[in-house]
This record gives sequence, structure tokens and C-alpha cells, in this order.
Amino acid sequence: MTNPNYSAKQRDDARRLSLQLLDKIRNGAALDDVVEMLAWHDQPIPKSYVRHILMGAMRQSGQLARMLNRHLSKPFDKASSDIQDIFLLASFDILNTTAPKPSVAHAWVETSKTIGNLKRAANLLNAVLRKVVAETPEELPNPIHNLPFWLRKRLIADWGQPRMEKIAAMLLEVPPTDLRLMKGQENPAKDAHVVTDQFIRLADASIDVRDLKGFDEGGFIVQNLAAGLPVDLGLALHPTAKTAIDLCAAPGGKTIQLLDHGLEVTAVDYNTRRLTKLEQNLTRLGLDARTIRADVLQLQQNTDESYDVVLLDAPCTATGTIRRHPDLLIQKHESQLEELVEIQKKMLDRACQLLAPGGILIYAVCSLFKMEGEDQAKSFLERHEDFEFVAPTLPVWLGDKEAIETHEGVRILPDHLLEHGGMDGFFMGFFKRKKR
Ligand SMILES: C[S@@+](CC[C@H](N)C(=O)[O-])C[C@H]1O[C@@H](n2cnc3c(N)ncnc32)[C@H](O)[C@@H]1O
Repeated sequence: MTNPNYSAKQRDDARRLSLQLLDKIRNGAALDDVVEMLAWHDQPIPKSYVRHILMGAMRQSGQLARMLNRHLSKPFDKASSDIQDIFLLASFDILNTTAPKPSVAHAWVETSKTIGNLKRAANLLNAVLRKVVAETPEELPNPIHNLPFWLRKRLIADWGQPRMEKIAAMLLEVPPTDLRLMKGQENPAKDAHVVTDQFIRLADASIDVRDLKGFDEGGFIVQNLAAGLPVDLGLALHPTAKTAIDLCAAPGGKTIQLLDHGLEVTAVDYNTRRLTKLEQNLTRLGLDARTIRADVLQLQQNTDESYDVVLLDAPCTATGTIRRHPDLLIQKHESQLEELVEIQKKMLDRACQLLAPGGILIYAVCSLFKMEGEDQAKSFLERHEDFEFVAPTLPVWLGDKEAIETHEGVRILPDHLLEHGGMDGFFMGFFKRKKR
């Protein structure tokens, strides 16, 4: 990952930037925003290197911390977060570089000497990184340590120890990039794995999709295979549907899907910046939807307004997307789970009021927890006797039906289709208003 075309100064700037970005993430910035900041960074620095060490250090933070503990007299997690960050980034870099490891270690120590509050740690960093140079990625502690303890405990409770271990091992890998082709569009990447007529999985996840043929013309969107299922399966249950409301719509992956299926769509989101992103995405694709900036829980509605399809892609712990969002490993806390479960419950209760008779309510969360998925769906049905669960027809490419269908909905765990690189974790429930 050391590009000889960049000067030592530019690589030093890249290391500093990775420290600044990790600090922003620790302070609550969303990874997508941070990645965007990096994309817009106007200095000539090796951005792919920044991305590589930033994502890698977060993905493996638990393993790296344990390894560092072997070389430190005080426990790693007792150090301040800026000190932790340079140790994490530097040790991930050293363990994964193709350059001589001692020179990478030396470069990090030199960088630390020029950053105000890190100067005092330079000697310790030097001593520890010399030891890290002798380590190999294979000798790192078990990857289960990358999952915070509370997350591990919940995964074991929901899916058992072996599944938790499998999921933890998968998190080490860079996830594949899937493209959803818009109707009638050609595959822009000939060496991609073609999953369905509409979904392809790129052979190289580091490809910048903006460089692919068809991006500017709106030929495709980036969407994980699992994220495409709620709309595709839900609409197949209601082939005559004409209108849809997408309640947590931004940045618009599922809005676009609904439009591509030919529906008239209203897209709601309360986040102005994300809603603007949705509008930009629609413009790129030459599509049109009514957009409303509103809190779903406060949504005003004409009494006669109802939709054939109501999609609630609710805010959740997003634990199904940790491979792509390793920031969750250092940002999310167990206390947020109960709060989110309560919000999802209220949103479901509001969402179902917008449904036309015979319509389909699609509830989706990219969470690994039953509390946000199966249990939420079950309790919704208990509260709303006028609704029933409807089972969608699962596509053949999804494989083992038994593994994914539950009584309350469809469950995808990240190790599904492991031989092709796995999927995001998702739960989706499909509810129909019963006829009176
Ligand atoms: C899981 S993301 C949606 C992803 C989107 N459906 C897609 O496929 O691209 C959840 C969205 O819900 C929005 N959101 C969260 N709480 C909301 C609320 N109370 N009212 C409206 N939007 C909300 C967030 O701003 C975020 O954009």
C-alpha cells in the first residue's frame, strides 16, 4: 500500500489525515461523511492508503488492542483516545504493508513527533512498534475480540456461539461491492459475478464505481444484494401496486428501486443533507419522486391519503453492515439498542396508518438482532390484529430457504452466500392489512 509516486511528505500528510478522520469518527461523525470528506480532500495524498488503514484499524481494533496489550505495561484501553488511535493505525499499517515494516514503523514515529499532544508518546510508540514489526497478521488474537463484548453476547443469545464466531471472522474481509442495474441497462463490468439479471457483484471491491460506464447516465446504483430484497420481495406480493411511500428514504436506494418498478413514489426523510443526496441521486438517474422533509412520527397526512405500499426502512443499530461500516464497532453502544427499538415500534404504528386496504407494509432493518427484527415484527402483529404476515417467494439464487425464512419475516445473516463473499445482515417483514 505504499505508492512510490507519492513523496514522503505526502505519505506523512496521509497518516495525519487518517488520525484526524479517526478522531472525527470517535466523536460521532458518520463514516459515510468521513469518506466523503476524504474524497473531496484537495491535497495530492494517497487516499486509498488513508482509507485502507482507517477501515482496517477500525475493523481489527479489538485484535490490535489485545496484541498491543502484550507489549504495553499499562492496559491499552486506559490510554487516551488520540494515543490509542495512532497505535491502532500504525500497527494495522505495519502488519499489512508490502513495504519494509521497520521503515513504516519509523515513519509513524516521525509523524507522532510533529503532532502536539502525540509528541509525548513518541518514545513509547517507537518501543512498541519495534515489537509490532515482529508480529504477523496470522498471530493476532481471535477476531471475536473485534466485536465489543455486549455485541458478542447478543449475537450468541440470538444465533449461538459458532454463528457469532463466523460473523466475527467475516468482518475481517473487505466486503464486495454490488451494483443494481436499472431496468434494461447493460452490465458495465464484464468480469463481475452476475447474481441475477439485475444484480452484479464486482470482482474488485476497490473499483471506483464512478469510473464505470453508465454511472453518469444513471445505469446502476450501488446496493448490497440483501438491501435490494425488501422492495423486490415486497412488490412481488402486490403486483398491482401503483403508489408507495418510502418513510426513511435517504439516500434513496430503495426509493430508486420502487421507481424502477414503475411506482409513483413519495420519499420522506427528516435529514436535510441526506434528503438532498437522495434528490441528487434521483437527478443522476433521471427519475422523479415527491420528496418530503419530515419526521415520520410527526408526519401530517390528509385523511384520505393512503398508499398501496408503505416501506419503513427504519433507523437501527446497522449491525448487519459492520463490514462496510466498521465505525459501528467503536461508536455504537448497547444503550442505543433499546432506544432504537422504541423508535421502530412507534414508526411501525405510524406507518401502518398510511396503508391502503389490501396494501403491503414492508418493514426492513439492517440489524443482526432479533429485538429489532423478528421480535419487533411479532410485537407489531400482536398490537395490530388487522394485519397478517405474508411470506414472499424467495428467489432461487438465495439458496437454502430453511436458513433464512422465519415465521415473522425473512432473515439474512452476513454469512449467507459465504462462497460468493456473503451479504449484509437484514431482517424484513411483510404485512398485509386483513380484509374486513
Ligand atoms: C436505514 S437509513 C435509510 C436508507 C434508505 N432507505 C436507502 O435504501 O437508501 C434510515 C434513514 O432514516 C432517517 N430517519 C431516521 N429517523 C427518522 C424520522 N424520525 N423521520 C424521518 N426520517 C428518519 C435517517 O435520516 C436515515 O436517512
